[in-house]
Amino acid sequence: MKLTHDSIERNVGLLIVLTVLTIIWGGLVEIVPLFFQNATTQPVDGLKPYDPVRLTGRDIYIREGCYNCHSQMIRPFRAETERYGHYSVAGEFVYDHPFQWGSKRTGPDLHRVGGRYSDDWHRAHLNNPRDVVPESNMPAYAFLGKTPVNASTIGAKMSALRMVGVPYTDAEIAEAGKQLEGKTELDVLVAYLQGLGIELKGAK
Ligand code: HEC
Repeated sequence: MKLTHDSIERNVGLLIVLTVLTIIWGGLVEIVPLFFQNATTQPVDGLKPYDPVRLTGRDIYIREGCYNCHSQMIRPFRAETERYGHYSVAGEFVYDHPFQWGSKRTGPDLHRVGGRYSDDWHRAHLNNPRDVVPESNMPAYAFLGKTPVNASTIGAKMSALRMVGVPYTDAEIAEAGKQLEGKTELDVLVAYLQGLGIELKGAK
């Protein structure tokens, strides 16, 4: 059988096989180079691994499903950059395992929310969003301020992250629990939010 356009289109099995091979090849060509580009694998200037406090806050963000309503990825469109600031770049997420990009925006994107409001604003807002934004339909998270953080797992979490490339030292891991002493889940969640996206905040 000659491999002509005609014979491929008349043979469904062959058409499927060749289509799949073409898509796989196209995917590899697009995706594989990304693993070797500095722009996608190196942290942007000033980006540090999450400290134990922010790392614990990040886990509460994930546990509470904040990502169901909030993305953390500013697209490179004028409507987005005017509102949220510089579009997100890959080098800002190298220590995020897993990343929190998302596409669901019931609420605003949070990638550069760090420093946009005071700590007090965040506390009031998480306690009851309607106190500061009357029309808000975000749920209240009043229990966070009454719940002490669980510090017993932070060392194990940091060790696990080190296995996937986050450069924590033994000393940082050993000391981690101390930094969480006396903190509530609200404290660490606010710390997490206040550090989001600040590295490229003023960038144009
Ligand atoms: C059911 C959807 C929903 C969930 C879940 C949700 N939010 Fe929101 N969030 C919103 C909406 C809508 C707004 C905009 C109104 C407002 O400011 O309250 C908002 C606003 C915010 C803002 C202010 C952003 C800005 O730029 O003004 C922050 C910060 C925030 N949310 C954090 C969180 C955190 C942290 C969680 C998880 C603990 C969370 N949200 C869970 C819907 C949600």
